[in-house]
Order: sequence, then structure tokens, then C-alpha cells
Amino acid sequence: MSVAPCLPGRALAQGVPAAPATRTAHAMVVTIHHDATDAGVEILRAGGNAVDAAVAVGFALAVVLPQAGNLGGGGFMLIRPAHPDPDHGEPTFLDYREKAPAAATADMYLDEERNVVPGLSTVGYLSAGVPGSVAGLSYAEAHFGKLGLARVMAPAIRLAREGYLPSDEELATFHDEHLTRFPESRRIFQRDGDFYRPGERLVQPELARCLESIAADPTGFYHGDMARQIATFVQKNGGLISADDLAAYECKERSPLIGHYHGYEILTAPPPSSGGIVLLETLNILSGYDLPKLGPDRSTAQVHVITEAFRRAYMDRGDYLGDPDFLTMPLAQMASASYAAAWRKTIDRTKSSPSATLVRPAGFMPPPPSAPPAAHESPQTTHFSVVDADGNAVASTYTLNFPFGSGVTVPGLGFLLNDEMDDFASKQGVPNGFGLIQGPANAIAPRKRPLSSMTPTIVSESSPPVRPGEAEPHVPGRLRLVLGSPGGSTIITTVVNDLISVLDNGLDIQTATDAPRFHHQFLPDVLQVEKRFPAPTADALAAAGYVVQRAAAFDEKAEGVWGDSELIAVDPATNELLGGQDHRHHFGKAAGY
Ligand code: GLY
Repeated sequence: MSVAPCLPGRALAQGVPAAPATRTAHAMVVTIHHDATDAGVEILRAGGNAVDAAVAVGFALAVVLPQAGNLGGGGFMLIRPAHPDPDHGEPTFLDYREKAPAAATADMYLDEERNVVPGLSTVGYLSAGVPGSVAGLSYAEAHFGKLGLARVMAPAIRLAREGYLPSDEELATFHDEHLTRFPESRRIFQRDGDFYRPGERLVQPELARCLESIAADPTGFYHGDMARQIATFVQKNGGLISADDLAAYECKERSPLIGHYHGYEILTAPPPSSGGIVLLETLNILSGYDLPKLGPDRSTAQVHVITEAFRRAYMDRGDYLGDPDFLTMPLAQMASASYAAAWRKTIDRTKSSPSATLVRPAGFMPPPPSAPPAAHESPQTTHFSVVDADGNAVASTYTLNFPFGSGVTVPGLGFLLNDEMDDFASKQGVPNGFGLIQGPANAIAPRKRPLSSMTPTIVSESSPPVRPGEAEPHVPGRLRLVLGSPGGSTIITTVVNDLISVLDNGLDIQTATDAPRFHHQFLPDVLQVEKRFPAPTADALAAAGYVVQRAAAFDEKAEGVWGDSELIAVDPATNELLGGQDHRHHFGKAAGY
């Protein structure tokens, strides 16, 4: 099996020009927002480690990226210390995903005729899960940071108190009809109809005070006055989050999933994200092909087998995955090489295999759970990557779910609540906004975490094998990539697109980030491609039996893109860091020193 070297500057085969990656010698932060990147770099320069910087970025994005950065949402943080040892710890995964309130029920979004009530799980008070971001970011700082919460939150507090300058592109996002529906959101983000104009600073004094309280005592968000304020407001307006729900919330430290692909170790997200296991199953299926031999990046033959791997892994996602605290999942089988080999035998190299006729290989997986409903995710999430001068790496993805979450801002506290309850299945068998049809494993239940697709991932060279008699832990492999993206159900395929472009096809990190994406999720049986995806490849795939849908093909005004990869690669020749900042948005930044 040959793997292409990671050559800086190699262009896509199909006409997408290479843009230079940002290059630094020691440390790097890449985010969708320049102010958040600057916050992270400020903290690294002040002596902070990658976790300090990541926490600074998380809080800064809560100020400067209100559609996805958040205090009122939740997410995941994957941490890979450069030198795993008793002092620095092993790689770990922080799960601060939102939870369903205790009063949530499986059919809470259905009407009397058991039809899904449109919008109930996506907008307003009832759509909010118990937020996890404050618990997660403060846990990360307390256990893995060096500088302390007050220092790492200082840039966010400054940005809220003194304001920041949103660009035209950012200001356009504030014209969101859901924000208009809720008075506090309309007042803060839409100035009651007198919308902010380019050159005007958005100052958020309530949010600044809220951040100052969190910096002084983060537990107050869950147990003190702030918790009571949140619960009273939500319940007064018909939502379910109670003071007890907030008091019961906890960030969970979980073991990351570990897989291998062509000599690389893949460290990635465990459930309650589906991201990591679907990523590993996809890569295991693909490990039986020599992708560069099939053709260049985005060639018909490559896209065909990658799509067939997506189709099979997403089929398993829908049937088996949910909150690990509520069900046992066949993760070992899903990640096994023999299962991947059996799936590979079902792939026809010349044509697509329709999802409706796809049969799971016998003898590997248990029967899927057969109780309640399915799940769903959204495009509005955000990912950021950090590597510090010691080589510690953080990949973090967090979210409010849909843009601006529920649309509801908590008065006096200045932050938006999520609408993550929509990531549960409102009704079994009914496709969600992304067309995902899933099984009972992801039904709503009290205090359960909804299934996610967020896929923070860190790739390193595989460690040398432990020799007989040698003590573990042994020397970890060299860091190669820090990956992740928003994009709802497309998150996992975006991470695969990026990873294969770099590891198999040798694209540099910036070119990989900007390469046109393709996505398949089993159902609907449609191969989605971004608007810039090469037309000859799309035509050839259609001839091979795919229903190819070009994103926003019928709406010339729409961007026709999805995701936002904010990536870091390590140049294996020089050990320099290369930042891939997704040019689908124009206010992000890769920077460091
Ligand atoms: N809300 C998007 C996700 O968690 O996958």
C-alpha cells in the first residue's frame, strides 16, 4: 500500500488552485474568527499551553461568533499531550454535550396525532438542552491548563466589554428570523431593527458581566444565582430546563477512540458523537484500496469507493449509535478490520450500490435496538485547532446546533441557548432537516445526551510497536494533523475528505481545506457535492448510478458549500506547523509564532 508524501503546494488534479498554508515554527491556532485566533495566540505567548489557548478560544468565540460559539451550548474537546506520562496524562476526550432536561419525553415534539410539530425542537424555549460548554471549558482549564480561568477568559471579557467589529459577512448573519422572534436577541443582535452597519462595534455588556462571573466562579452557572436565573426564565416561557437539571450537569472525561490508517494513528471522538466511529469504519473500509492508484484527488474512481464506504458506515450509524450512558453499542465490531473487509466485498468497482438494497454482512453485528426514535444535526457548529510549542494538541468542536441555536437569549446574561434537543429523533422513521433517518438508539430520554456528528480528530504517526519485555507507555508517534469541522451530518465526511486529501493524495493542508467536498449518508440515497465540485467527475458518477445533487444548484445566490475546516498539519520535513484556514468564510485566521 503506497501512501503519498505530504507535499506542500501540490494542487488539486481538477482545477482548484493551491493557496499557501500559514506556516509557523512553534505554535499555531486556527479558528473561523480572527479575534478568537488572536485570543488563543495571546494566551500561548503568555506562557499558556494548548488547552489554555483552546479555552481562551472557546470563550472568545462565544462573544464574536454568536451563531455557533457559545456559553449556552455544548461540545467536545480532544486533547493529545505531546509526552504522555504520569505528569502530563494520556490523550483524553472531554464530553460537554448538552443533556435532555429531566422532564423531557420521547414524544415531546409530537402533536395529538403523533405528527412532528414543525419548529418545536429547533426554535424557542422547548428546544434547549441543558448547556455543557461552561462546565466543559472550565473543567479543561482546571485539569489541563496552566494559567487559570481568569487569565484565559480575559480576551473574551475584553471583546464583550469593548466590543468587536463584525464584517459585512458576519453582520448578514444577524438578519436571522429566529433572533427577531425573541425580544432579548432582537435587542442585542438586531438593535430592535436598526441593524448594525459595517464599522460599528458590537458591545455586549451583559455577556461581559456573565463571563466575569464565570471567570470568578464557574460553578455559579450550574448551582448559584446564574443557574436560578436561567431556569426561572426558561420555565416561565414554557421550556423544561430546571435548576436541578443544571445542578446535575457534569462534564465527562471519556477515552478517545483510536484507530489506524496506513501507518497513522487516528485519535478521535467516541459516543455520544457518532463522528469517530463512523470515521474509523470508513477508513477501515478504504484501507483495502490504494486510492492514489485509482486516480487523483476528487477523481471518479476515488470518489466512488469513498462514497460507498460512507454509505455503509452511515447505515451503521443510523441503526446503532446513541448516548453511551444509555445503551451498549457494538463499537468493536464497527471498528474491526474483518467487518471492513466484509463490507469491501459488497462494493462494485463499476457502479453505485443503492442504499435500499444494501445488506449488512452477516455474522458481525448484533440486531439493532428496537425501541424508540431517530436523530438529526445542524450546520451551525464551529471547530478550532491548537498546537503549542511543546507539541500538545487540541481539537475542539462545539455548537449551539442551528445558527443562533434556539434564538433565545437569557436576559441579563447575554448568551444564546442551544436547540440541541433537535439532535434527538423527534419521531422514528421521519427524516430530519438533513434527511437522516436513524434508529431507536437516539430516542429522547430524560438526562440523555443527543447523538452528535462532531468529529474532533488528531492524527499522528503510529508509535513504534512495543517489543517483548518493553514497558508501556512507549514513545508516542509524531503529530501530523489536527482536524475537525462543523456541518451537521456532513461533519464526518468533511473530516474524511480532508484526511484522505492529505494522507493519501499528498495535498497540502490549505488545498485540502479548500477542496470541493462530497457527502453521502446512506439515506437519502444522494451523493451531495459542493457547487465547485468538478463537473466531469460529477457526470461520470451520475453515469455510474449515483443521484448527484450539487449543493444549491437551483439557487445561484446560495453559497453551495458546507463545513468549515480549521486545520493544522505538521510538516514532516521541517516540523513547522501549517495552518489550513477554510476560505469558505472570510473572517477566520491561522496564526501563531
Ligand atoms: N449539532 C450538531 C452535532 O452535534 O452533530
